[in-house]
Amino acid sequence: MRSVKVVRSPEEARAECDAARVRGERVALVPTMGALHEGHLGLVREARKRAEFVLCSIFVNPTQFGPNEDFERYPRDLASDVIRLEGASASAVFAPDVAAMYPPGDETRVRVGPLAAHLCGPYRPGHFEGVATVVTKLFAIAGPCVAVFGKKDYQQLAILRRIAIDLFMPVEIVGFPIVREASGLAMSSRNAYLSTEERSRALALSRGLSAAARAFAAGERRAGVLRGLVFAEVERAATSVDYVTIADADGLVPFAEAADVGARAVIAIACRIGHTRLIDNLVLGEDAPIAFEG
Ligand code: PAF
Repeated sequence: MRSVKVVRSPEEARAECDAARVRGERVALVPTMGALHEGHLGLVREARKRAEFVLCSIFVNPTQFGPNEDFERYPRDLASDVIRLEGASASAVFAPDVAAMYPPGDETRVRVGPLAAHLCGPYRPGHFEGVATVVTKLFAIAGPCVAVFGKKDYQQLAILRRIAIDLFMPVEIVGFPIVREASGLAMSSRNAYLSTEERSRALALSRGLSAAARAFAAGERRAGVLRGLVFAEVERAATSVDYVTIADADGLVPFAEAADVGARAVIAIACRIGHTRLIDNLVLGEDAPIAFEG
């Protein structure tokens, strides 16, 4: 296993990427906030198929957290992350501190549009602006020709695709399928907060999505019915539900309850299990059924 170089400043990260390009290598970027799990390593492996040089960034970005969110306690373990990244054949790790990414005088933000109007947008004001800003900075630093993001953050992925188009960024945005535990639970760094009891309650998210996927496969197209199947499961298990929404898979505009969803639609969930906010989604008409153990 090759050891992976860790750089801390934007200048060093850019120099690593420039050197790779001089060697004739394609550069891929995998932006993360660390606390890496198999889902993240899937992103790195996917990036590795598409580029010889894979820069993985690890940065818990303060501008995408609200004042009452978990910025302070978000899990951080750079040493373990680096070992995992070596196993996944990353080429280099960019792990800046907050002052490196937001130096004194920093004031520019990337404003996002209507794609942020529904789903998580209203529940996390400023979140997508923070994501858009930090990812734009990372693109400017690394200049990747490809960047890989997880589909679990479905709305984030849609917004980042839009940004790359609107700002003429020469980067291909690749979405990587949700990686699930054998139980069906979508992998997330925040799963580390869950107690054993909460973990079993959290299975309601994937169970609900599966119920909707089965109904859709059997021909159900009424938005209200599909949404209701998911909501029933989630409501029983969750401490609180931010939303269960069935929306147009591209524009992310929710369907009215009485509408027919057509050939493709995203069902997205955000809820709290205990104090932990979890999200999950499934694209009806596109995603494979969720596999469960047992
Ligand atoms: O998905 C995440 O982990 C973060 O939102 C990202 C894309 C790394 C930006 O901080």
